[in-house]
Amino acid sequence: MVARRRIIAGNWKMYKTVPEALALVEELKGLVAEMRDIDILVCPPFTALYPVKEALRGSNIELGAQNLFWEEEGAFTGEVSPTMLKSLGCSYVIIGHSERRKYFGETDKDVNRKIKSAMVNGLIPIVCVGESIEEREAGKTEELIRRQVVGAMEGVKTTGAADIVVAYEPIWAIGTGRAATGEDANKVARLIRQTLAEVFNERIAQEIRIQYGGSVKPQNVAEFLEQPEIDGALVGGASLDAETFYKICQGAAGGVE
Ligand code: 13P
Repeated sequence: MVARRRIIAGNWKMYKTVPEALALVEELKGLVAEMRDIDILVCPPFTALYPVKEALRGSNIELGAQNLFWEEEGAFTGEVSPTMLKSLGCSYVIIGHSERRKYFGETDKDVNRKIKSAMVNGLIPIVCVGESIEEREAGKTEELIRRQVVGAMEGVKTTGAADIVVAYEPIWAIGTGRAATGEDANKVARLIRQTLAEVFNERIAQEIRIQYGGSVKPQNVAEFLEQPEIDGALVGGASLDAETFYKICQGAAGGVE
């Protein structure tokens, strides 16, 4: 069995002005300063990435973006490239979040291009997959998740693939207060890992970290992290408050064997 290091990420979505973002990380970095056994990262909106990076200098919190465009530069008004994100100190980038798929029409093909571009440019992709309530009720969860994982990873080189993070985020659990059960989330995480083993190989699949996301709170984080296939959490609403996000990190760090 491979020991996978736990990873807790805060997806701030379209929240926090620069002053608000700075207030949050100033408080957070003090709270988590002693936590060395888990990876902690925040994913602010583009506008706050640089000031947040400056504020995080010397801290144990890493930086991620919430999206990118796959070209490195060019006439693509309004887009942000992987090179730009890398140069300002991002280590991670969230790709294919359900909100991007739903509101901005991102397809599995787009997700695939973005993953490849992120990897070429030294960014670790956090690839989001997850079913809607209709898909779940129609018994289509497995088929959909497999399609999303295969589509996302098509043609992705094995070099560096072990660093990829996959976030299982059932759409019906996002922002609803209705989290999946640990057991259900673990079943899907297992399916994701099996699919990754088919796409890459068993060794890489064992190294890839899988997060759960969707109404994660200090009160339920342990239920997810005690599952054998779940290695972390992608936290939305509860990452917007330093104390609450800290408690989630504590829940994750406390469970380390
Ligand atoms: P919530 O934690 O607010 O449910 O959001 C989850 C999410 O979408 C993280 O990417």
